[in-house]
Amino acid sequence: MKDKVVAVTGAAGVLCSTMVEDFLEHGAKVALIGRHKANVSALARAMKRKGFAETLVVEADVLDRAALERGVKKILRKWGRIDVLLNGAGGHHPKGVAKAEQMTPDTPKEETFLGMEMEAFAFVNRLNFLGTVQPCQVFLPALIASRGSIVNISSMAAWQPMTKGAAYAAAKAAVSNFTYWLANHLAPMGVRVNAIAPGFFITNQNRFLLLEADGETPTARGRKVIGHTPMGRFGDPKELCGPVRFLVSDDARFVTGVVLPVDGGFMASSGV
Ligand SMILES: NC(=O)c1ccc[n+]([C@@H]2O[C@H](COP(=O)([O-])OP(=O)(O)OC[C@H]3O[C@@H](n4cnc5c(N)ncnc54)[C@H](O)[C@@H]3O)[C@@H](O)[C@H]2O)c1
Repeated sequence: MKDKVVAVTGAAGVLCSTMVEDFLEHGAKVALIGRHKANVSALARAMKRKGFAETLVVEADVLDRAALERGVKKILRKWGRIDVLLNGAGGHHPKGVAKAEQMTPDTPKEETFLGMEMEAFAFVNRLNFLGTVQPCQVFLPALIASRGSIVNISSMAAWQPMTKGAAYAAAKAAVSNFTYWLANHLAPMGVRVNAIAPGFFITNQNRFLLLEADGETPTARGRKVIGHTPMGRFGDPKELCGPVRFLVSDDARFVTGVVLPVDGGFMASSGV
């Protein structure tokens, strides 16, 4: 990673800020892209306190093309190249989650699919799917110039939707599918495109689903997840760093179009 320039969207989030620190520890220069300047600036200051000065704050919503274009220019002005794009921005919307796991004749309508709001579906789809597609397009000329690579963030839900989170599962399935498509499309240009599919890591976007209000006790759903994970626990965000660093490294130069589960075996297990 030494002196590679990495751009991370959603950089201040729980998973991505961990990966940002890992990239810096390994000698990369990291552009911290976020919607809220205060959050990415706070991350840059926190990294500086740890001795990592090679960051650049880029204020950009992944759905705001003009802001992303300004971001690319800012990064190229400072460092002259971009080697890696990590598309980390993503998340749920509470109204895109059905309260009931299954619909029965007795389930209150507002807890079922009938109660889910189309605007929430559109929000989740825009954020996770278009919020991945658009940065790929805007950063591509710089990545072609460096023969760089892209890492998207999919989810277990892309293969097997969890109950409740319909909008998110469909949007992440689109991210995986697009990862395959773009990998093929860009192979002749020397740009590799892969994704990771994290299992279950406690972060701001899923805390309300997996932990009780005390922030420690797993909910019934959280216990189910742990029970279905052969390794018997939630993941630690640090456990995503090695797989991502591998995907963007020269060791993975013949690896493209892969969606790599990092999930303690969740995907491999049928549960019976
Ligand atoms: N936590 C998990 O278990 C898990 C599992 C699978 C996939 N993921 C995915 O990992 C990625 C990182 O999420 P996280 O779990 O660290 O959650 P998080 O909520 O901590 O981080 C998400 C970040 O994205 C940012 N963001 C949201 N909308 C944005 C926008 N329009 N433009 C720019 N930034 C925006 C948020 O401000 C936040 O910093 C997401 O794509 C998420 O879907 C997480």
